Amino acid sequence: MTRKIPEETIQQIKQSLDIAEVIGDYVQLKKQGRNYFGLCPFHGEKSPSFSVSPEKQIYHCFGCGAGGNIFSFITEIENISFQEAVGRLAERAGIQLDVPIPGESANRTASREEDRMLEAHELLTKFYHHLLVNTKEGQEALDYLLGRGFSKEDLETFQIGWSLPNWDFTAKFLQKRGFDPEEMEKAGLIIQREDQSYFDRFRGRVLFPLHDEKGKVVAFSGRALGEEKPKYLNSPETPIFNKSRLLYNFHRARQAIRKHRRAVLFEGFADVIAAASAGVEEGIATMGTSLTDAHIHQIKRIAEQVTVCYDGDSAGIQAAFRASEMLSESGCDVKVALIPDRMDPDDYIKKHGAEKFRDHIIGSAMTLMAFKMVYYKQGKNLQDEGQKLAYIEEVLTEIARLKKAVERDFYLRQVAEQFSLSLDALKQQEKQLFMKQRKRRPSGEQTFQPAAAPRTYQRLYPAYQTAERRLLAYMLKNADTAYKVKELMGGEAFNLDEHQAIFTYLLGYYEEGNAPDASAFISFLPDANLRRLVSDIEMMTVGEYVNDEEVHDYIKEVFKHRKVLEIKSMKQQQIAAEKANDYKEAAQIALKIVKLTKEL
Ligand code: CTP
Ligand code: MN
Repeated sequence: MTRKIPEETIQQIKQSLDIAEVIGDYVQLKKQGRNYFGLCPFHGEKSPSFSVSPEKQIYHCFGCGAGGNIFSFITEIENISFQEAVGRLAERAGIQLDVPIPGESANRTASREEDRMLEAHELLTKFYHHLLVNTKEGQEALDYLLGRGFSKEDLETFQIGWSLPNWDFTAKFLQKRGFDPEEMEKAGLIIQREDQSYFDRFRGRVLFPLHDEKGKVVAFSGRALGEEKPKYLNSPETPIFNKSRLLYNFHRARQAIRKHRRAVLFEGFADVIAAASAGVEEGIATMGTSLTDAHIHQIKRIAEQVTVCYDGDSAGIQAAFRASEMLSESGCDVKVALIPDRMDPDDYIKKHGAEKFRDHIIGSAMTLMAFKMVYYKQGKNLQDEGQKLAYIEEVLTEIARLKKAVERDFYLRQVAEQFSLSLDALKQQEKQLFMKQRKRRPSGEQTFQPAAAPRTYQRLYPAYQTAERRLLAYMLKNADTAYKVKELMGGEAFNLDEHQAIFTYLLGYYEEGNAPDASAFISFLPDANLRRLVSDIEMMTVGEYVNDEEVHDYIKEVFKHRKVLEIKSMKQQQIAAEKANDYKEAAQIALKIVKLTKEL
């Protein structure tokens, strides 16, 4: 049994932290009026319906209904228990907890296994790094890395290491420390032979640890020193490593990405490292795989703008086109930084230096449309009339997809100028292409809406439900209102069970002597559904005080609905009585119906 964390401590933690800042680690938030808005992390969406109120210390999504306070946010997003969430937030707030917090995996064997895998990776990262920088055995690899232009500091920052060219160095290392070989094979570190013995996956390779978004090493990528194949050998997919999700350097770049409101996406992690030491700290990379929706989902949580900076060869340009289309379709503002002369970013930095890279490449990244104009030129001879016309049509088709008239105009002028064509003629052709596209696109399918305004609509509820919600909103603000409503309800219940439950808990909350505080009350609720509902109700803006007249009106509305329901059921009884030829009963019911209807 774990002891309960004292209520005062919980309050203290909450008061020391800013909910917008904590949630800001997971969601990119924009301030608008008193609240912050962003894309909800709990469901996929393209226009922001997720809001955070620093004043009320709660968050709520108008799209999926998620909501609660700082503790429920961490509980849900990290998928951990309330106690663990309190533990993490206490640590963040620098507050000592006297109560032991159960480990993330206290009684889940699966995640205990994962813990051991993480532990092995952490140990090995340190050890491989030590071998590289401090030992004779690592000298050749160290020379190779320094020769390639990595600095000692880079090796430190990215924890780069070296695996000895032995068959069972890692296997023995792990066994000596009590790791279960079967588990370590599952973690991708060693491989079992037919005779049951184990050998190392990584032998004689420069090792780049791959961190997950929390900064834990979950896999390695090993580069051959020379020309051996494969050039890079990666850990296989394991319970802790998912290739199509992991973004290299995401945990480190997070801060910089937030600061610059931009992520820079590279193809290789050598590029990420070179860029970081050239002062572009917001670099991330996929693991040699193409960009997936899972990657984009992660990026979008913290960045508005993504600069795609892939290799300058034709494969790189092709991949950049694909990645930027995907990013743009998911609502990111995309730029493309092209590297000249078929170089990759790493080569470019080595050849031209950090400053040129920052200013001429990243700083001069093109808009997606400008990039497409370059892209479609690839492999075409524009002196040839037919190829030129094909190119113009491709570009016009893209221009027709642009949302803003000023943008369309801007690029049309460029094309007109470049090919000495009449602007009017181009405009006409672009219109035709636009109509063609519209026809092709079924009307139900929506194109993405860039930078849509936050959805602030309130759902339309039936009158009685609105009345109950407003009563609860006022009761959350003021204990006297709560007692008054209790009196006026005279023991009757709200129509909605959830509302009644909140009402009951709220009275209990006040009776314990607690002051009005929606966020604290949310912690008091045992049920996630009720917590969500309270955050939703609390997000309705109501004043602190309400006059008696308004309260009476709402309560009337609540009772009215009960009468409406009663009348409905009586009408059914009446019909049943008539069917059974019991006219006396039917007449009596009719009288009651008349009486109730009059009361309405
Ligand atoms: N990659 C891989 N397996 C390979 C080759 C490449 O997983 N056999 C991945 C790596 O993640 C690498 C990325 O693809 O970072 C880009 O590949 P490439 O451009 O060939 O590598 P560089 O980053 O240029 O590496 P280097 O400079 O060391 O040649
Ligand atoms: Mn390279």
